Amino acid sequence: MDIAQLKDVFQKHYGAPDAVYSSPGRINLIGEHTDYNGGFVLPGAIDKGITLAIKANGTDKIRVFSVDYNESSEFGMSEADKPAQPWAKYIFGVVREIEKRGGKIKGFDAAFYGDVPLGAGLSSSAALESAFVFALDDIYGLGIDKFELAKIGQATEHNYVGVKCGIMDQFASIFGKKGNLIRLDCRSLEHQYVPFNPAGYKLVLIDSCVKHELVNNPYNRRRESCEAAAAAIRKRHPEVEFLRDASFAMLEEVKSEICEEDYIRAEFVIGEVQRLLDACDALVKDDYVTVGQKMYETHAGLSKLYEVSCEELDFLNDCAKKYSVTGSRIMGGGFGGCTINLVEESKYASFISGAIADYKAKFSIEPKVYDVVISDGARKIE
Ligand code: GLA
Repeated sequence: MDIAQLKDVFQKHYGAPDAVYSSPGRINLIGEHTDYNGGFVLPGAIDKGITLAIKANGTDKIRVFSVDYNESSEFGMSEADKPAQPWAKYIFGVVREIEKRGGKIKGFDAAFYGDVPLGAGLSSSAALESAFVFALDDIYGLGIDKFELAKIGQATEHNYVGVKCGIMDQFASIFGKKGNLIRLDCRSLEHQYVPFNPAGYKLVLIDSCVKHELVNNPYNRRRESCEAAAAAIRKRHPEVEFLRDASFAMLEEVKSEICEEDYIRAEFVIGEVQRLLDACDALVKDDYVTVGQKMYETHAGLSKLYEVSCEELDFLNDCAKKYSVTGSRIMGGGFGGCTINLVEESKYASFISGAIADYKAKFSIEPKVYDVVISDGARKIE
């Protein structure tokens, strides 16, 4: 599908569109499960996203066609008039969250397609939310600031999808910049663009093809563990708002007051906050060996302490070691999806062919490979 074809699809259903918008998925170099702990993350938007054609229709109804599901949905703007299709709740949520903030919008027609692989940990849902919130803000001239656009997508996840996610995915989708990662402080939302063109290296994702599914799953439970650990620490150290503010010594003090599970989750997060800062220092010095080492440490923590990996992703991580990849780790929420790999160009070909063959021999599925191209965030295309 391309933009001309999308416009044709729109034309068939609703007449000529007024405008076309696009918003990307994301990668994250390091800093996982730190966003809802007030910590730092280091994401970048990618060259895969959701593209939509849209036009106000002058009614109170929203009509949307999903090219990928080959399905239409029609719904209203009120809580009582929800869509039936699961994919449409992301759009409904965005509409409701805009309205809750006083944004005045009316009905519209839209058609969209995506090329972010679903369930691969590349934030296809954030891309969808961001594409719609960006488009609606623009066509209705709402003037919502970019931070709030990201927060509307996040609130959609919380209130209409049931995933108590942090801000990273929506922030990256809205604020992405070609060739740059974003070092984001998830408490203050202060952010810096970090140019990322590691000479002699490539970033590549290997998709385990194990579907990552965050709804009704242990993602929210991870967050609760972190909040429980932070609350216990806060009783002794009132300055600790989030785990981001805590040290290993503080965690040790409350060891007997929290359950083992909450303890090991917090142990991961406190380590991860520091690993990201160390990786950022190393990046400034073009020290990719250290960055890679931190990525491997993150994987070990996500697997052993945070317990969001799986056999397939641990296998891909071991493959990376076997083929001398500089850094590798599970990326995103976990429970499936991709590993992100920082690999020397000279080792790239042998790693890819070796990992594909080994994974296929072990699990009888061919993993997918995506080269990462760091790209721009949400935008109007025409
Ligand atoms: C998912 C969530 C993000 C973040 C990551 C883990 O992608 O949507 O907010 O918590 O998991 O880093």
